[in-house]
Amino acid sequence: MIKQLVYGLATNLPWVQGLRNQSLGGSVSARYCYSVWLRHIVMANLQGLNTQPRIVAELGPGLSLGMGLAALISGSEKYLAFDVVDYSDLSLNLSVFDELVVLFKERAPIPDAAEFSRVKPFLKDYQFPSHIYGDAGLELALAPERLEKIRQALQGNDPEQLIVYKVPWYEANLIEENSVDMIFSQAVLEHVDDLDNTYPSMTAWLKPGAFMSHQIDFKCHGTATTWNGHWRHSNIVWSLIRGKRPYLLNRAPKSTHITLMKKNGLTVLQEDNVEMPSTFKQNKLAKRFREMSDEDLTCSGVFVIAQK
Ligand SMILES: C[S@@+](CC[C@H](N)C(=O)[O-])C[C@H]1O[C@@H](n2cnc3c(N)ncnc32)[C@H](O)[C@@H]1O
Repeated sequence: MIKQLVYGLATNLPWVQGLRNQSLGGSVSARYCYSVWLRHIVMANLQGLNTQPRIVAELGPGLSLGMGLAALISGSEKYLAFDVVDYSDLSLNLSVFDELVVLFKERAPIPDAAEFSRVKPFLKDYQFPSHIYGDAGLELALAPERLEKIRQALQGNDPEQLIVYKVPWYEANLIEENSVDMIFSQAVLEHVDDLDNTYPSMTAWLKPGAFMSHQIDFKCHGTATTWNGHWRHSNIVWSLIRGKRPYLLNRAPKSTHITLMKKNGLTVLQEDNVEMPSTFKQNKLAKRFREMSDEDLTCSGVFVIAQK
């Protein structure tokens, strides 16, 4: 926590603002991206949802566009990515892309908890999902001319706008209403400052019947000595820790997300809580969190699917 506070204060110095001291996720690794994309798709399949989404949007792809590239490689036609920090790195994206192609061609098993112990959701079965990506469909998706088109798009030769990367994004009208088949995010919605406007935007983008799939991590990300100690910091302490970082944590507990989904007319189909005991009760929380339910206080993460 002290380290985070010192960093937060230091971000007021202009030369510190560019330094990276954020949690940046794992999308630098192709195997991570392959694993995360397939986990979202396997979970969608278990809910009977569309596992061949034509248009896919992602919030907060992080260091590479790998999860969206996995979507494109496996058959999606368009990928829209929205972040608040520009991490674009062509050589990383190209190498992640090439590695992903090999993983799909080999029908590699989904990297599991032995390789990525902290990545959720967990699956019951980590075999390659051939029941979703059958040989005939995958052969078409992996056709050399199709893959070359995606590779070219990454390099900026993208007349059909296969890949759209928008940083920063805030306007809801970036995407046509009722046009997206699937929106997903991994370890992002806990960082989004303006949830009140983000959920309505995402909902508007989805086609009727389309869905969103999110893994959200409510832990303190190093800002406290206990996993949920960030809910004990007063607003003043929190703003000092945040400093001028482009994002940190919105500190919204699970119920805020579920309430916003329902308020925006989505149907929550799946809600897998990761429970973790709390070492303190609500009376130790900062004033604004004292009414928190026991469920929120002990929910360290959630995987949620909601349908429009
Ligand atoms: C922990 S990283 C996760 C990155 C990636 N999803 C992964 O799994 O590796 C959080 C990401 O959320 C992004 N982010 C923060 N606030 C955001 C917002 N309001 N809208 C979109 N992305 C945001 C950050 O820039 C960063 O890319």
